[in-house]
Amino acid sequence: MQLKIPIIDDGGTDIRRKNILSSPKFGGSCDVDSIPYLKALGIEIVERRQPIQFTSNFGEHVHRWAPYIQGFSSAFVQSILDQYRDDYESPVILDPFAGCGTVLAQSKLNGYVSIGTELNPLIQFVADTKVNSWDVDPELLFKTFSSIPKDLRSPAPSFLKSDHQFNKGVLRNLECLKGGIDFILTNTKKQIKVKNLILLAFSSILIDCSNLKRTPCLGYWKDKKVADDAPWILMKRKIKDICNDLEVIQNKYKNVIGIESKVLLANAMEYKHEHMFDLIITSPPYMNGLDYVMNYKIEMGWLGFTKETKDAKKVKDSLVVCDNVSKGLIKIFTESNSKYTNNWTEEIKISIAENIERRGNYRRNDMPHIVHKYFDDMYKVMKTVTKSLKQNGRFILVVGDSLIADVYVPTDLILARIGTELGLTVEKIERARNRHSGQVRNYRLRETIVTLKKDSKRGKNNGR
Ligand SMILES: C[S@@+](CC[C@H](N)C(=O)[O-])C[C@H]1O[C@@H](n2cnc3c(N)ncnc32)[C@H](O)[C@@H]1O
Repeated sequence: MQLKIPIIDDGGTDIRRKNILSSPKFGGSCDVDSIPYLKALGIEIVERRQPIQFTSNFGEHVHRWAPYIQGFSSAFVQSILDQYRDDYESPVILDPFAGCGTVLAQSKLNGYVSIGTELNPLIQFVADTKVNSWDVDPELLFKTFSSIPKDLRSPAPSFLKSDHQFNKGVLRNLECLKGGIDFILTNTKKQIKVKNLILLAFSSILIDCSNLKRTPCLGYWKDKKVADDAPWILMKRKIKDICNDLEVIQNKYKNVIGIESKVLLANAMEYKHEHMFDLIITSPPYMNGLDYVMNYKIEMGWLGFTKETKDAKKVKDSLVVCDNVSKGLIKIFTESNSKYTNNWTEEIKISIAENIERRGNYRRNDMPHIVHKYFDDMYKVMKTVTKSLKQNGRFILVVGDSLIADVYVPTDLILARIGTELGLTVEKIERARNRHSGQVRNYRLRETIVTLKKDSKRGKNNGR
């Protein structure tokens, strides 16, 4: 049944709304629009609905240390590890888009070596601290936090609008808390680890202390009331959670504490790994999706990873592209000669360009090139990491599709096709959940798990 939404005559000002209501995709679905692509790949999507989103991590040891809602659930990672338990003995695992380290933390809990790359320095710091602090004495952590001086002040980052982001009393307490943390000594490895955990805790309470909310994009929340002493209260609660989890790990998981696990500050498009991997488990940025830098600008600023706005922009332009990227970067891309492409992406680009012209108004006119750059970036990542995948190894991607200017973009199927071009076999594509398009709300999208395999039957050098 089609939804009836009245069109309000607003004198032509709300073109965007009218475009949405007159969209040929109104009430449509990815299932219909995927048919030709699935036919070409010779595969069907199978159902494997599950709670795949990060929210279920909020009650989990270690995973709960940092609220990173763009991640996937530890239960999903565990289900993959369980599924292939008989295929690989002590698998070595890679997550090229490590985010806050869900894959790494879960792999380490299972006693498996794991490596990640992450290009946002704040997120890399959080993920690496999460997997490399399991030997910290919880008593020492609590004692260090409890004895930080309360009368020192480190000023809020000057380039952020902290007066808007925080109430006056909260801001003063945050500056004192940060002043105390900055005072912690870092002469020994032990002290460094303790301070890193305290900084991680500090970064993880900032948004709760602010007048903003992440849903998942960062925005002001007008009804939010934050008490002046929230920084100290939330910080103490977070430190207690971390201490509790350290105790659990040191009792129940002592054997895994020394297992290698690291998140490198590196670009997945080019980083050459020393290890060869049995499993690559990852979730890339979704096209037209989130801005992984501006969404964390507050934490990045307070922890000193960015000193001015342009630092954040620089990080953003180095990530796999999102639709908030700088125009200059897209211009340089269009002028470059060596780009990955295939007939699907070319047809999608043309359709997007035609629709933008027909509409006469779109958020970004260079959207066809942004889409192209997304697949070029992803091709680079997939090519690079496939070289480090062992024979019979699996490359598992969790990804969502998109609707852009009324054009359906089957990101999962295009990535699967790129996999085949790199010599991998598409083992299965599973729907983990349904989603809705942000532009045409009643157009149904999906989130899928794409499983690619480096099949030894296809020849020894496939993908190398
Ligand atoms: C969907 S998130 C991954 C979430 C992760 N699965 C988790 O559970 O925390 C994608 C991540 O990829 C990172 N990223 C984007 N481009 C990258 C690149 N070229 N190299 C390394 N990391 C990148 C982003 O900063 C973001 O944190």
